[in-house]
Amino acid sequence: MADVEKYFDLVNQDQQAFIETLREVVAIPSVSGDAARRPDVVRMGEWLQARWEALGATCKRVDPGKQNLHGEILDLPPVILGQYGNDPNKKTVLVYGHYDVQPALIEDGWETDPFVLVEKEDGRLVGRGSTDDKGPVLGWLLCAETHKKAGIEMPVNLKFCFEGMEESGSEGLDEIIVEEADKWFKGTDVVCISDNYWLGKNKPCLTHGLRGVSYFHLQVEGPGADLHSGVFGGTVHEPMTDLVHLLSKLVDVNGKIQVPGIYDQVMPITDEEEETYNNLEFSHTALASDLKNDVLIHAEERDTLKHRWRFPTLSIHGVEGAFYASGDKTVIPAKVRGKFSLRTVPNMEPAKVAELVTKYLNDEFAKLGSKNKMQVIETHGGRWWYSSPKHPNFVAGAKATEKVYGVKPDLTREGGSIPVTLTFEENLNVNVLLLPMGASDDGAHSINEKIDKRNYIEGIKLLGAYLHEVANTDLSA
Ligand code: BES
Ligand code: ZN
Repeated sequence: MADVEKYFDLVNQDQQAFIETLREVVAIPSVSGDAARRPDVVRMGEWLQARWEALGATCKRVDPGKQNLHGEILDLPPVILGQYGNDPNKKTVLVYGHYDVQPALIEDGWETDPFVLVEKEDGRLVGRGSTDDKGPVLGWLLCAETHKKAGIEMPVNLKFCFEGMEESGSEGLDEIIVEEADKWFKGTDVVCISDNYWLGKNKPCLTHGLRGVSYFHLQVEGPGADLHSGVFGGTVHEPMTDLVHLLSKLVDVNGKIQVPGIYDQVMPITDEEEETYNNLEFSHTALASDLKNDVLIHAEERDTLKHRWRFPTLSIHGVEGAFYASGDKTVIPAKVRGKFSLRTVPNMEPAKVAELVTKYLNDEFAKLGSKNKMQVIETHGGRWWYSSPKHPNFVAGAKATEKVYGVKPDLTREGGSIPVTLTFEENLNVNVLLLPMGASDDGAHSINEKIDKRNYIEGIKLLGAYLHEVANTDLSA
């Protein structure tokens, strides 16, 4: 029996143990955005390092330094670099994933404790991080462990890079990659990242594009302290009123960005590109049902996909400093910060985006004649990524997908962002493949996040099959 078939057999046999491992890591609430959870984030990184070392990998823990989280100084969680196998006759694949997760509270609407993995009868494995990104991160580990257990030689040398700050902007990671490009990462032939999702629920895909993100805070401050609206309403310029006015000028209700010049940098869609939207497995009916209510803006599927992958969008996320608790407090908040971000696409430049956004908001604020102080702050950003899916790395991914799922994968782009993708591509000068494990309805960042048992188990096979295919592929072709 071929090695990869033996590997598949053992994955089938060990399914329950793999679910137990997922349960163990979901129970570590490694929320990078919450200062109180920072020890758990570190614990999760240490868990990974220990498990890889137990297998025989060489690891290097890099502590990126300090972080200022709302005035609190915290240690950034470790980046775990690793090397498993070092045979000069084999190719070297670098895999990346993140072991931190988004926040999750039962009162957000979770049916069960988000940090206790629940196996549902319909096959869902529900828990924070199950799909984003603990399932895939475990996939690489379980693949290597299973090879060892079955006495199957790993077909490639594996390097890995697992970080604990992805959900909070990957602070400190780019510098490490630049620093280690010719050291720890030397000899990397290709990169594979499993941190995105299928386009639908049934058909696997390979992904060759991501949008970038430019995140802004819009601060308006007025009086030195909150005021009583009965005493001061109508007599002072209110920061919240100015802010609401400005936020309303950014984007219209159909998602069209109102900042002048923003669409000028967007690469036009060619006829050839237009054709890539044909025959994708993607339906509005399924999407609307996942959304629970049909709130879709566009009538055609291809337009929805273009606005997800191909056009910039602007979303308003929240307001800090505003009165948000229940009840009716008659307050005039003294200082408020609206938060919004743009998802960016080829060929938008982050510096130009920031310039246009800042100029527009300054102009609009000037029109108000308000005596308050307004400030636009760009807090973090990441650039878009687009790669040709014709590279042999993608051919290997497609062959592996066919072997596991029996179908040719769709070729997709994503609306979300994984800024490190471009950092790897530019600093290591190698091709990067995005090979997703989870499905479109997994609910990353949302309540009741899940990965289907099928996707998890077949995904562990997929990652292994991909490594075997890379070993048999001429990467220079
Ligand atoms: N796994 C996601 C990236 C993703 C999101 C891929 C949606 C495909 C579809 C990742 O964990 C994530 O959420 N990234 C952040 C990056 C940001 C903080 C720079 C994002 O997209 O908001
Ligand atoms: Zn993720």
